[in-house]
Amino acid sequence: MRVLVTGGAGYIGSVVAEELLLGGHEVVVYDNLGKGHRDAVPPGATFVHGDLGDGPLLRETLRRSRAEAVVHMAADSLVGESIVNPAKYYANNVGNGLALLDAMREFEISRLVFSSTVAIHGEPRKVPVEESEPTDPINPYGETKLAFERALRWYDQAYGLRSVSLRYFNAAGASERSGERHDPETHLIPLVLQVAAGTRPEISIFGDDYDTRDGTCIRDYIHVIDLARAHVLAIEACDAGSRAYNLGCGGEGTTVLEVIAAARAVTGHAIPVRIDARRPGDPARLVASSARIERELGWRPALADIRGIVDSAWRFAEGRRTPADPTT
Ligand code: UFG
Repeated sequence: MRVLVTGGAGYIGSVVAEELLLGGHEVVVYDNLGKGHRDAVPPGATFVHGDLGDGPLLRETLRRSRAEAVVHMAADSLVGESIVNPAKYYANNVGNGLALLDAMREFEISRLVFSSTVAIHGEPRKVPVEESEPTDPINPYGETKLAFERALRWYDQAYGLRSVSLRYFNAAGASERSGERHDPETHLIPLVLQVAAGTRPEISIFGDDYDTRDGTCIRDYIHVIDLARAHVLAIEACDAGSRAYNLGCGGEGTTVLEVIAAARAVTGHAIPVRIDARRPGDPARLVASSARIERELGWRPALADIRGIVDSAWRFAEGRRTPADPTT
C-alpha cells in the first residue's frame, strides 16, 4: 500500500516508516522537523518537509503520493508542557489533526492509523488498563488525544473514514538506525543512559514511597519496534471497521529501580541515583492490557524484555557518540 506517515521523522514515526518498508509498503514521510530528525527517515522513504498546518503542501503531498492510507504520528506529547501551554496542544493535536482528516476526505483516503495514548483514561481505576476503562484525562495532552479519537468516530459514521487508534504509554528502545533523541530529554531510559555514558552525573528518582513492589513507579515500557509492527498491522485492519486498541507488554510492568538495574547490567556502569520528590501527576502504576489486539489481530510484543529494550537504546546511543568513520 502507499502510506503517508505524518511525524515520520520522529522517534516512533521513523521506526513505523522502517517497518512499513520492510512490509513492502511505499512510504512518504511528512514532518515539520520540529522535533524529528531528517536523518531518522529511512532511505527507502520519500521525505516531505512540511507542517500539517500548511494545507496546500499537505494536499499536494496527498495528490502526488496517491496515498491509500495515513499513519498519523505528528503530535505534541509532553504532559507537563501541555498543562502550561494547552493552546499549543489543541492547535496541533486537534486543529491540525482535523485539517489532515479533511484533506484525506478530499482525496478519498479512507484508512487512518492514529497514534494515541492510554493517558486518555487519566488515573486508571483498574490496571492493566483495558479499552473499556472510562476516559477521563487529567491533562491537556490526554484530553486532546481523546478529542481527536472522538472526532474519528463521527468522521467514520458520516464519511466512511475507517480508523484504528493505538493507545500506549512508554515507548522505549531503538531500532538499528533510529532511537530516542528528544531535546530536552525528559524520559527515564535515555536519561539513565546519559548517566551511564558520563554525560549526566546522576539520575533523579521521582519518589520512592509509592505503593509498589520497591516504592518506585511502575510503567509499561514497550519496544518501539513492537509498536511499529502494531501500526503496520493496524493499517490492514482498518477496512474491517474503526476501533481502538491498547498496547502493552503483557506483564507486571517495570519499576524505575528495575530500569536502572537493567541499565547497570547492560552498560556495566554504576549509575548513581538521587531520591527526589514525587513528580506531580505521576500515577503509581500504568500498565496496559493488549488482550484485545492479540485476540483480534494476533499482535503480541516480541521484544518485551526490559534488558533487551535498554540494550537496544544503549547501542543506539553509543552509535551516535562514536559514528562510523565514513572513510573506512
Ligand atoms: N522518572 C524518574 N526520573 C526521571 C524521569 C522519569 O524517576 O528523571 C520516572 C517517572 O516519575 C515515571 C517513570 O520514570 O515514573 C517514567 O517517566 P517518563 O517521563 O519516561 O514517562 P512517563 O511515564 O511520564 O510518560 C509516559 C509517556 C507519555 C504519557 C504518559 C502518561 O511518555 O506520553 O506516560 O502518563 F502521556
